[in-house]
Amino acid sequence: MNIDVIRKRLEMCGQQQVLRFYDELEQNEKNALVEQIESIDDAFWHFDSFDQDAVQARGKIEPIKAVSIRDIADKSEEYMNIGVDALKNGKIAAVLLAGGQGTRLGFDKPKGMFNIGVNKELYIFECLINNLMKVVNQTGSWIPLCIMTSEKNNADTVNFFKEKNYFGYNSEYVHFFIQEMAPSVDYNGKILLESKSRISTSPKGNGGWFASLKRANILDKLVAQGVEWLNVFSVDNVLQKIADPMFIGAVIQSGCKSGSKVVAKQDPHERVGAMCLEDGKPSIVEYFELTEEMAVQRLENGELAYKYGVILNYLFNINELETISKTALPLHIVEKKIPYINENGVLQNPDKPNGYKFETLILDMIHMSESCLPYEVERNKEFAPVKNAEGADSVETARALLKENNIEF
Ligand code: UTP
Repeated sequence: MNIDVIRKRLEMCGQQQVLRFYDELEQNEKNALVEQIESIDDAFWHFDSFDQDAVQARGKIEPIKAVSIRDIADKSEEYMNIGVDALKNGKIAAVLLAGGQGTRLGFDKPKGMFNIGVNKELYIFECLINNLMKVVNQTGSWIPLCIMTSEKNNADTVNFFKEKNYFGYNSEYVHFFIQEMAPSVDYNGKILLESKSRISTSPKGNGGWFASLKRANILDKLVAQGVEWLNVFSVDNVLQKIADPMFIGAVIQSGCKSGSKVVAKQDPHERVGAMCLEDGKPSIVEYFELTEEMAVQRLENGELAYKYGVILNYLFNINELETISKTALPLHIVEKKIPYINENGVLQNPDKPNGYKFETLILDMIHMSESCLPYEVERNKEFAPVKNAEGADSVETARALLKENNIEF
């Protein structure tokens, strides 16, 4: 498109600032900026059109029942047989979500490259591969592992896996794919520049993983190989059990189209999303969406009504994902610290939030799914998140849990 036409369009939506330095640029930079402008969805240029009230609106929230640790113990043999069978028949692939920026940890490389070891090197990616290898060894079958990165951390992630020889995993079964990005805006909805020739973008949340997996032509290959279920999990839990046969068995046996691992919350106000029923269907309510009354509400048996926290470990049937993906996921607006260049072209690195980024969230897919089985696991065995540098869910708390589980570091 001609630059004058683009300029006019941007003026009409009050976003002409993205061309502020255009005339100073070299021809190749001009072309790249125009290409980037043209690649951005129309909606992002019109911040006023985002209806966050609609995105945040909730239906009727009620407590949900889960398959409890005790229920699972009673049926362990049955679940194990079904799960191992599915794994041996190549019906399961794993999807690692590693496109986030991990800003809270304050580590300048992909989070999975963080060395959590003390006496020896132990990288977060390595912990995850070690956990997956246990199932590979148990079933004698390699499990396809798809790793979602972002354009910001893809090269580092891919090179790290190569350098570390995939931590012993069979590289033929590892597939990297890159997630979508979205522009960042200031508090007035004006799209920010990260350099004179580039719009500031950030990873568009973990909700777009299925669309990105498809776009990368990986999904078709998995389906052709006979994969029916995807176990999706986050990068930041060093005790994450991946392709857990019991979980897979329980979900398949239940007839549900998806399943979610849950843990009993440590306290009523723990900062994790909780599984619930929303208008009678499984859903996830974020900790800040629970009213005080709901947070402390108890059932007749004395248990917290919203006691099941999610740990970002889901199993989805691929046919169900195809159905879910026909509807657009809600776009959430999140306040963030966004580096940008000011009107003088000087890079600013704010120390407090200065604008918004846009995200779709995998947790919204649970409510969109026809059915979801909440599956309770022992938190001290399966949940050691590394979110923050210090305090709760930090390197220190994760190390304590590694120790408790006799994992050398
Ligand atoms: P978080 O919600 O913890 O976000 O991601 P984050 O960006 O990694 O970390 P902070 O908030 O900046 O500290 C939960 C999971 O979703 C993945 C992350 O890599 C992590 O596994 N994720 C998040 C993506 O893959 N893409 C995204 O755009 C965001």
